[in-house]
Amino acid sequence: MLTPLIAGNWKMNTTIHEGVDLVLKLRELLKGADNAEILIAPPFTHIYHLSPLIADSPMRLCAQNIFWEKSGAYTGEISGEMLKSAGCHHVIIGHSERREHFKETDEVINKKVIAAIRDGLKPIVCVGETLEEREKGKTISKVKLQVKKALYGLGGGALRDITIAYEPIWAIGTGKVATPQEAEEVHNALRELLHELYEKESLKNTRIIYGGSVKPDSIDQLMSQPNIDGALVGGASLKAEDFARIVRFLPR
Ligand code: 13P
Repeated sequence: MLTPLIAGNWKMNTTIHEGVDLVLKLRELLKGADNAEILIAPPFTHIYHLSPLIADSPMRLCAQNIFWEKSGAYTGEISGEMLKSAGCHHVIIGHSERREHFKETDEVINKKVIAAIRDGLKPIVCVGETLEEREKGKTISKVKLQVKKALYGLGGGALRDITIAYEPIWAIGTGKVATPQEAEEVHNALRELLHELYEKESLKNTRIIYGGSVKPDSIDQLMSQPNIDGALVGGASLKAEDFARIVRFLPR
C-alpha cells in the first residue's frame, strides 16, 4: 500500500518569524506521526532557515515553484539545484494560481517537471477544472489532458517520483470542498489514464492527492476513498492544530 502524502502549501504567507513559530508548533504536534509522509511548502525565503528545525521531525520541505534552467541570467528565478541545496525534496508545479496569475502553460509546466526530475526533486503536479468546466461536463477530459501534457516525454522511471494533485479550482480557498465521491471519480479517471500511459511497475509509488478546502472535518472521508492518496492543504496548513489533525486523519 502507498504511504499517504499530506502536504501543506503555505502560499505567500508568513514572515520568517511566523514561519519558525508555526514549524516549532508542528514539531510538537507531529511527534511520532507515522501514518503519512508530511511536507511543508513555505515561501522560498524560509526554506534554508527551516531546514535544521525540522531535521529531527517527520516533516520534509517542498518548494512552491522551480525554474527549468540550471543557472544564468534569469532574474528572479530559482533553480532545482538551489532548492536542493536549501533542503528541499519536493516541488509543487503547475498550481492553478501560477497558471492563472503567471500565465504558466502546460508546456511550461512540462519543462518544469522535466527539470525537477533532472535535478533530483520530486514534483507534485497540480491539475484541476474551473466551475464552468465542471458544469459543462468537461472535468475529466480537462484534467486528463493537463496530466498528459505535464508528463509529456517522461519515461516510466520518472513516475516513481511524481505525485499528481487534483485541485478543482472552484474548491481552492472557497471553503467548498469536493465531495469524496466527486474527488474519487476524478482520481479514478486519472489512475486509469496513468495505467494507459505507463506500465504498472512504474506506478507503484505514484500518488494522486486531493487539494481544495481540505479541513480537519473533511479529511477523514476524503482519505477513505480508494484512489485518494493524500492531500495538498492550503489555508488549514497555516494553523498548526488543523494541519496536525489533517495529518492524523482517520480513514473510515
Ligand atoms: P485551500 O486549502 O486554502 O483551499 O488551498 C488549496 C490549495 O491550493 C493547495 O495547494
